[in-house]
Amino acid sequence: MNEAELVFTEALNCSRMDLYLKKDLPLDKEKSLRISSILKRRLNAEPIQYILGKTEFMGLEFKVAEDVFIPRPETEILVETVIEKAHELMSLGAGELNIIEIGTGSGCIAVSLAKFISQAHIIATDISPEALNIARENAKTHNVENRIKFLKSDLFDSFAISDKRYAICVSNPPYIPTAEICQLALEVRHEPCIALDGGCDGLSFYRRLAKSSGRFLRKESLLITEIGFNQLKEVKNIFQNFKEFKIQKVIKDYCNIDRVVVAKRI
Ligand SMILES: C[S@@+](CC[C@H](N)C(=O)[O-])C[C@H]1O[C@@H](n2cnc3c(N)ncnc32)[C@H](O)[C@@H]1O
Repeated sequence: MNEAELVFTEALNCSRMDLYLKKDLPLDKEKSLRISSILKRRLNAEPIQYILGKTEFMGLEFKVAEDVFIPRPETEILVETVIEKAHELMSLGAGELNIIEIGTGSGCIAVSLAKFISQAHIIATDISPEALNIARENAKTHNVENRIKFLKSDLFDSFAISDKRYAICVSNPPYIPTAEICQLALEVRHEPCIALDGGCDGLSFYRRLAKSSGRFLRKESLLITEIGFNQLKEVKNIFQNFKEFKIQKVIKDYCNIDRVVVAKRI
């Protein structure tokens, strides 16, 4: 739905179809006040997802609030890649599939994976307790809370010392260079800085993922990450310099931008 449709379906409590097919939708005072209040906040560059308190991702509804990064459509490519790889692994006989997600935010990746891969058992981490609370709520809404363990952790710091149980580590880490954050659209600057800031060159999380994830991945396991615009060359170098990973695949988004990197633990 476009933003106007989102505002009107919310305020009039109707479906998108109703907006176009029902000619006499009642617009009482309460509903018009609700529309004015939404528009006032939107004119202040507040993202529509925060105003409505929800968004859609992988065809599922997720609660969002100012404490949490708003799921982006391109991240669905990351999730679809993990689902495809998970099915490949399961066709080779893997029973349970243990997955780590680093930086879960609203939980959109972990919850979608649990929803679409019935054998998936996921540990989803975030450094933000507020984000983890929302992620837990989303897992409950979608009835997958029994297959996702949410953990407050600075990347892998709260994990057991070494546990090579995991077949996949997935992450959409913060990847905006610090100096560029103040130039982002006003809407994006409403989002938590901790979800955006990838350090001085935007790549600090890829270095940390490459350095630490090997302790939890066995041979042939996969590290699957979303990357930012023009980061492919550097991210490839980072993963390959650690000599524990080999780049298996790069997937572009709908704007033909390199968006997802699949690296195999060797
Ligand atoms: C770009 S957001 C991604 C959120 C969600 N996975 C998604 O794709 O919509 C990055 C997330 O990483 C979390 N984060 C930032 N620093 C972290 C750290 N050191 N350890 C774990 N998570 C971190 C942020 O709180 C944020 O939720």
